Amino acid sequence: MEETVFLTSHIKDLDLTGERILLRLDLNVPVVGNKIINDHKIKQALPTIDMLQKKGAKVIIMTHIGRPKEYPPGFSTKHLIPWFKQNGYVAQFEPNFDKAKMESYKNPNDILLLENLRFFDGEQNEGHFTIFAQDIAIIGDKQDVKAHLFAKNLADIGDYYVNDAFGAMHRHDTSITLVPQLFDPKKRFLGPLVERESLMLSKLVKNPEQPFTLIMGGGKIKDKLPLLAKLVDKVDTILLCPAIVFTFSKFLGKKIGKSLVDDSVISIVPDILKKAQEKGVNILFPLDYQAATDNFNGPLSYTESEAIEHNHVGVSIGPKTEGYFKDEILKSKTIFFNGAFGNMNKNKTLEGMKHILEAMGEINGFSVVGGGDSVAVANMFGIANKIDYLSTGGGATLTYVSGLELPGLKAFEKEST
Ligand code: 3PG
Ligand code: MG
Repeated sequence: MEETVFLTSHIKDLDLTGERILLRLDLNVPVVGNKIINDHKIKQALPTIDMLQKKGAKVIIMTHIGRPKEYPPGFSTKHLIPWFKQNGYVAQFEPNFDKAKMESYKNPNDILLLENLRFFDGEQNEGHFTIFAQDIAIIGDKQDVKAHLFAKNLADIGDYYVNDAFGAMHRHDTSITLVPQLFDPKKRFLGPLVERESLMLSKLVKNPEQPFTLIMGGGKIKDKLPLLAKLVDKVDTILLCPAIVFTFSKFLGKKIGKSLVDDSVISIVPDILKKAQEKGVNILFPLDYQAATDNFNGPLSYTESEAIEHNHVGVSIGPKTEGYFKDEILKSKTIFFNGAFGNMNKNKTLEGMKHILEAMGEINGFSVVGGGDSVAVANMFGIANKIDYLSTGGGATLTYVSGLELPGLKAFEKEST
């Protein structure tokens, strides 16, 4: 990515007094009962807000939270307002874009926060969730019109566009790919967080020190398996953790009980295993699990992997695996952890992940943890400062490290319309 698109390269020459900056952030933070559980992503965005406000700009923030169309609950961004207030910002929530346009001319020091973008039809369609969707141009006609209208509505609210939503750069969402194209290239920039993330994560892409170990867990299996197929080329060892490991285990005919599996992508598994074998990449499976009985929130016990019962749901790794994986981690010079495992509402299930993160903190090398929940767990157990880099991105970071182009970056290569 050319340096010229970064805000930090231009900020000193810009007169932003009274200018309205449409700032796309990824403030997709975990919210439970109106409370923000982890504010890492918001904190990482503050230097950008401060930088713009210092130049006299009016900051208008847009973000998504959750996946309101896919599963409930879809949270309103209004729940973020108290956080900003408690942290010394004046922030105003505005769900109506026409009103936002009027309001955006007032009170330069007040942040204007737009409603959750995913509450609106034009922000996404099914294709947006497909990381391999080739280009925004292939989106069907109807959606195309809706998306363009939505993009225009958003673009009208700002004089400049800044994208600092690193964690959402792998999505084709309108605010990420279409809105920047409605701005003059001199009036659109990538923010400091995107710049920092790209710089830090490039260490995993450009000649990482070997051995390079990838630790992979969590859900969103449909997103992750195609990327894992790319990553096999780049790493020496892959440690598979719940839940993603069970799609592998099912393919191999191993017992998985009622553990989470994504059958829609199980056909990718043999390709990954074959490629790994050809390249001499070790793919290691857990020796034992922490399992919940009947459902994810059920009573917990430990079980050998081959002894998983039909009513067991694999939640985390067991103590044998902690030691087995730790040995591998300590041999590594580069480690990338993606995809938290365990039940975020039950501390007892986070022990396995805690041990993995602690081992990562011990290596004499470069360690990266990506994704909201993973960073939250690292913070919860006081391990965050032992990890070399905590990325705000989950899927975005994985996409970047896989070597695939991020749609949010690609949008900046296009001419404005
Ligand atoms: C994330 O949390 O990874 C980003 O905010 C993107 O969210 P999404 O996976 O729902 O698109
Ligand atoms: Mg280190």
